[in-house]
Amino acid sequence: MMDKLTALCKAMITYDKGDPRRIHHFLKVHAFAVQIGREEGLDERTLFRLEAAAYVHDIGIHEGERRFGRNDGQIQQELGPDEARPMLESLGFDRDDVERICWLVAHHHSYGSIDGPDAQILAEADMLVNQYEDGAPLKQNEALYHRLYKTESGKRMFQELYFDTYEGIKK
Ligand SMILES: [Fe+2]
Repeated sequence: MMDKLTALCKAMITYDKGDPRRIHHFLKVHAFAVQIGREEGLDERTLFRLEAAAYVHDIGIHEGERRFGRNDGQIQQELGPDEARPMLESLGFDRDDVERICWLVAHHHSYGSIDGPDAQILAEADMLVNQYEDGAPLKQNEALYHRLYKTESGKRMFQELYFDTYEGIKK
């Protein structure tokens, strides 16, 4: 039998089919989240929930666009859990895992409510990807770095991606 995370990734690719940008996005966020989570020594359960949340964190985007013509962070947080929950349940995720994963989906743009390493790392991984996809300028990167980044590995990756340039290291 396929393990739950593999099945969830498969289901998310199907959910977002025809939208390669979204699929690339969550695959990258997942990869950064796993790397940060492992470097930070997360326990197995927390890493599992983080991985699942990374796959589904933006699941509210298409519903937001379809129903309200918008896909901003607020609408994603509002609509995401109701999309993620049936998918997670149908794949046999435990009830308390479903609750935490849905909470993470509902708060992944609310930095003020970060209450644990899974929430922190999801936000860091998401922004590592968003800053590249959105082509953010250095000033914006610096502000975000100081506001959001807490883990040593997340900080290091953000620096290596956005502050260490080919022309020389700008710190
Ligand atoms: Fe995202």
